[in-house]
Amino acid sequence: MPARSSLLGDIDVDVTLDAPIGAMTWYGIGGRADMLVSPHHTDALVTLLQRCRDEDMPVRVLGGGANLLVDDAGVDGVVVRLDHEWFRDLQFNASGDVTAAQVSAGVDLFRLVQDLGRRGLAGLEMMAGIPGTVGGAVRMNAGGSWGQFSDRLDTITAVDFNGQFRTWAADDLAFRYRDSNLPPCIVTSVVLSLQEDDPITVRDRIKRIFQHKRASQPMADHSAGCAFRNPIEASTQRHISAGRLIDEAGLKGHSIGGAMVSDQHANFIVAQPGASASDIRRLIDDVRTLVFQRHGIELESEVVVWQRGDRP
Ligand code: EPU
Repeated sequence: MPARSSLLGDIDVDVTLDAPIGAMTWYGIGGRADMLVSPHHTDALVTLLQRCRDEDMPVRVLGGGANLLVDDAGVDGVVVRLDHEWFRDLQFNASGDVTAAQVSAGVDLFRLVQDLGRRGLAGLEMMAGIPGTVGGAVRMNAGGSWGQFSDRLDTITAVDFNGQFRTWAADDLAFRYRDSNLPPCIVTSVVLSLQEDDPITVRDRIKRIFQHKRASQPMADHSAGCAFRNPIEASTQRHISAGRLIDEAGLKGHSIGGAMVSDQHANFIVAQPGASASDIRRLIDDVRTLVFQRHGIELESEVVVWQRGDRP
């Protein structure tokens, strides 16, 4: 049962103390949060952020937990989760334009891709099989070989850590490969720019992308997706597959404790039964060292690590 806290007792939020957030991530491992807070609406989120600022409490945002590793000792401060129905709203044709979808930040990407397909709205098929929420996908510009989330972003609305609403046209921000220059804030909703298409054609594209992933990635295992960004090759200035580099270094199946480099796709570091967050972190470091020794290329981890005492 959510507990109340004196800090937040008068605002519309659910509070869970000592919440097992590690278990809520795709890794399914790691520690707990001192306080997990789920606001019921944006006004409650604004008040929450102002209180946290006034109390100098660190605030972290938990999206789908798809790209996240929570340290075994857990995290301090407040972890915000936009999982209330207010933040899972999906509106089509709200502005009279059938190709503009207004999507709240807590909407799950699987559901979004399916809903758009059913309505014959094309443009976001490249997100098929990518886990997470819309807020997380904006923040890290999620994507893959077929495109990235920013390709279809029109407008982003957010609340900053002073509790101020902010809105940006996506064109005024710089979205890059798995990154953006979005200032510190919590995304609350976006408007997507899509195209009308035949629902069967859209569904077939989603299916093809999903099948490619299922064939090449360990989707049933516990992981945070790709562990490393694809580096840029100096001679061609093009991205090369970190998975291929790790594979060529002979590291498939390499393990530390319960953490293992996937046999299927070497850029996935999977948690086997009994794995700790520390095992995963040690293996990430080890793979980075061994790939550098083999190829002279420094890999950059894509997994966000939360640790007690860090100032997010
Ligand atoms: N390859 C190997 N060994 C491996 C893995 C890959 O030789 O263990 C080779 C493949 O055979 C292929 C090439 O490397 O020739 C590229 O592989 P893949 O198509 O899997 O693409 P990737 O560059 O490794 C990227 C994204 C994935 C995304 C896929 C498909 C990054 C870091 N990875 O992988 O994203 O799903 O394209 O769109 O950008 C993620 O971000 O979490 C992620 C998994």
